[in-house]
Amino acid sequence: MSVPLTPEPSRDCPLCPRLVAYRAENARQNPDWWNGPAPSFGDPNARLLIAGLAPGRTGANRTGRPFTGDHAGWLLYDTLKKTGFAEGRYDPNGDDDLRLIDCMITNAVRCAPPQNKPTATEENTCRPFLVDRLAALPRLKVIVTLGDVSRRSILRTLGYPGSAIPAGHGVEGKVGDYTLINSYHCSRLNTNTGRLTAEMFEDIFRRAKAALEE
Ligand code: URA
Repeated sequence: MSVPLTPEPSRDCPLCPRLVAYRAENARQNPDWWNGPAPSFGDPNARLLIAGLAPGRTGANRTGRPFTGDHAGWLLYDTLKKTGFAEGRYDPNGDDDLRLIDCMITNAVRCAPPQNKPTATEENTCRPFLVDRLAALPRLKVIVTLGDVSRRSILRTLGYPGSAIPAGHGVEGKVGDYTLINSYHCSRLNTNTGRLTAEMFEDIFRRAKAALEE
């Protein structure tokens, strides 16, 4: 008998004490926010998976949808629309009709961490959900990782060492049946300093589209 997949943690996932405490603190201060693990968002038959780092406190932790309400969400969703992976209107409160096309967005760590920095233990504890997230996507072909934590976590999820595909924007490689394309994270820090431009980011998703057609 096969064991059912658990691609999403429960709303009150108890596994990481520090993140549970942070969630509780946020819930005390902002009881109308989501304040739980942000479920993956998009097409359950997607061939493209985008893996971010973790929900931002006032972004996905507030709205319950990855990259929704974060500075990073504007560039991500705009780029997905330009490259044919999304349609509809994006609203930073999630009050919209945005739809992802052949694409799903998840996070390496599903709960908001203090200072946007999950610990290595939290990454490891959350990884089984990522393992099952990948396993639950029957047509998955291409994975875009946003930043180093995500790149390493996806590699380990697939049973590879975190160094199997080196860091760097646009670095691409085969991991088992999948193509992994790494991007700098679309965070405010990277976009404000010019480390990541809209053109560089768009190029990643054009390459993802090309890899899907191979
Ligand atoms: N919001 C997310 O959901 N993930 C990130 O990596 C950053 C912001």
